[in-house]
Amino acid sequence: MNVLIIGGGGREHALAWRIAQSPRAERVFVAPGNAGTAGDAENVQISADDFPALIRFARQNDVGLTIVGPEAPLAAGIVDAFDEAGLRSFGPGKAAAELEGSKVFCKNLLRDADVPSADYHTFDNPDEAVKYLRDRENVPIVVKADGLAAGKGVIVCHDRDEALEAVDQIARRKAFGAAGNRMVIEERLDGQEASVLAITDGQTIATLQPAQDHKPAYDGDAGPNTGGMGAYCPTPLVDDKMLHWVEQHVLVPTVHALKRAGRPFRGVLYAGLMVTNQGPKVLEYNVRFGDPECQPLLMRLKTDLLDVLEAAVEGRLDRIEPLQWDPRPAVCVVMASEGYPGSYTTGHPIRGLDAAAQLPDVKVFHAGTKRVNDQIVNAGGRVVNVTALGDSIAQAKLNAYRGVKCIRWNGAWCRKDISDKAIG
Ligand code: AMP
Ligand code: GLY
Repeated sequence: MNVLIIGGGGREHALAWRIAQSPRAERVFVAPGNAGTAGDAENVQISADDFPALIRFARQNDVGLTIVGPEAPLAAGIVDAFDEAGLRSFGPGKAAAELEGSKVFCKNLLRDADVPSADYHTFDNPDEAVKYLRDRENVPIVVKADGLAAGKGVIVCHDRDEALEAVDQIARRKAFGAAGNRMVIEERLDGQEASVLAITDGQTIATLQPAQDHKPAYDGDAGPNTGGMGAYCPTPLVDDKMLHWVEQHVLVPTVHALKRAGRPFRGVLYAGLMVTNQGPKVLEYNVRFGDPECQPLLMRLKTDLLDVLEAAVEGRLDRIEPLQWDPRPAVCVVMASEGYPGSYTTGHPIRGLDAAAQLPDVKVFHAGTKRVNDQIVNAGGRVVNVTALGDSIAQAKLNAYRGVKCIRWNGAWCRKDISDKAIG
């Protein structure tokens, strides 16, 4: 079968690499891909938002399954467009993707489904939000733009003044554009974060191993939030008992609530959790694989990914064997451009990729890279994701940083403490 993967980041490189290993995969295409996917699959120069061109390509190239990586095309209805064209694709339709596309929708659904989450209020008027903040106690609070904002529309505030400033930024100065037309203001939760992802066909849930992301830019969780500076899997924060609890009290009721709402969910359901003293609570849902969580997850997944995703699309996840995992943990370190998550320059030649590729149990997934003549250069904020297996998390970390040491470009940097929370 020919497979088309949509997107061009580290997640899509990991998907392409894993799918290409399936004995049933013939040609694997990535649109638009990056310099790394060009090595493990075939790049197609079509952008992820050009649905007519993607559909044409899928038809002309006998694509049997399209896998959608990022949230933006899902929220814009790419799966519905493929359905209408009679083409199979993996991911939720537009109505179900609102779970990530609208934080207001997500919070209301969680409340209706009795899924533990932070207490909240929603606002479409900044004056009312200001009044609400002034009328209540001066406590830590989180202000969120309703819509998609590339992970940046969430402002965690220590006190009322910061919250008032956040409301101004989101709703008046429109720092995140139309995403700020509505807002969620919610209680700040304390604890450690974990990512629990599941593949679902809308009836059955195949829960993946728990992972942990590192969203803040700098060591010790300092600095601004990013798309994720590293991840590891599994995380000891979520043991088997807690994973089962999350499945029963978070994932199952969410899938049922979406079905009841007439928005059946098929795809990856990704719960971003805060593990609090009162147990896990949902911070947010994503409707696709996490980036970079996908990279360590797929390093460890032994079951044929194409079989699983196809079973989900065909509604027969209840009939597949339980997922098989490499027992060894995996750690993924994101190497970024100087200045990320702010502005950065691109076009710097990257050296040492071949040396890193020689290391055992290491895979370098590309994110923001591009080939220019005979050189690979940085072309984005998050550039490469060095991912490694090891007999322990400490060993996997060592292996990943061994790969990092090989790779250089002008301004390259990374966090040095990925997975330390699990080791400490
Ligand atoms: P989200 O996009 O909703 O996951 O938010 C991004 C990040 O903001 C999360 O990974 C958390 O670190 C933080 N965050 C979001 N909501 C809360 C909350 N209610 N309490 C504390 N931190 C939060
Ligand atoms: N790693 C967080 C995300 O993919 O949104």
